[in-house]
Amino acid sequence: MTSAVNKTPEIVRSVDQMQQRCLALREAGKRIAFVPTMGWLHEGHLSLLREGRRRGDVLVLSIFVNPTQFGAGEDFDNYPRDLDRDAALAATAGADLIFAPVASDMYPRGYATYVDVEGLTEVLCGASRPGHFRGVTTVVTKLFTIVQPHVALFGQKDFQQLAVIRRMTVDLNLPVEVVGMPIVREADGLAMSSRNVYLSAEQRRQALVLSRALVMAREMAAQGQIAADAVIAELTQLIAAMPDARIDYLQICHQRTLQQQATVDPDSVLLLAVFIGQTRLIDNGFLLDSAPSQG
Ligand code: PAJ
Repeated sequence: MTSAVNKTPEIVRSVDQMQQRCLALREAGKRIAFVPTMGWLHEGHLSLLREGRRRGDVLVLSIFVNPTQFGAGEDFDNYPRDLDRDAALAATAGADLIFAPVASDMYPRGYATYVDVEGLTEVLCGASRPGHFRGVTTVVTKLFTIVQPHVALFGQKDFQQLAVIRRMTVDLNLPVEVVGMPIVREADGLAMSSRNVYLSAEQRRQALVLSRALVMAREMAAQGQIAADAVIAELTQLIAAMPDARIDYLQICHQRTLQQQATVDPDSVLLLAVFIGQTRLIDNGFLLDSAPSQG
């Protein structure tokens, strides 16, 4: 560990100040690594920060619960927020700067510009949450423009989001290297998420069905069951056995096109979104070991 690791990161609120700061860092020849988040940090976020620490001279974290990616009736108001807690955790992972803007500075009166990625955003979470990815791609474009990163790190936990951001970065010629990082899980398999805090003890137990479904699908594929319909039917039963679980989607898709597949192959990813009570959880994973990583 270096002495810099536990230094409390500086918090910058103003969009203009952050952009000036980052432009100056670039001019001074610093390599900027960037991890965008909505805060309430957990080990998943910290794994991205640690990798960013390795890849850049300056490590920037953004914390912004972005209103444009939440739909009406979703959890924008309830989303957990605690900047002091997050700053202390970010310090342990070596963050130098935290950009924590307010919505009125990111989207001032008269704001009218949005970024839309077609195709990839029309399926899975895009179908269930209309407008969600438009909000994500818009805010990530703005954050890239403000923070001017050389490299930005995203988790495969949000598999579709990563695919959409890669597409956008290529299509718009954004000079940012996008790095995908593996899903970090709790010891019992539950994918870490800021939203896990919403679960009661009983729901937390039932939430294990997402990672169990992944394990079951991988076992079926390993044993030669490669008919997607058959795999989906088994998993549907497994999930239906949980009293508080309601499937939003459960699909086997090609890792790059995100189109559904009839037969499991090395490009196949199982993607699932399941409501446990009111809380919507997502998870995903490749079905065959030979799968090349998206990272
Ligand atoms: P948030 O949900 O806070 O996630 C921030 C980053 O952490 C994303 O890249 C996400 O994939 C990653 N992440 C979350 N849980 C993870 C886990 N268990 N393992 C590994 N990585 C994990 O995703 C967003 O915020 C927002 O949409 C954002 C990109 C910041 C735009 O507002």
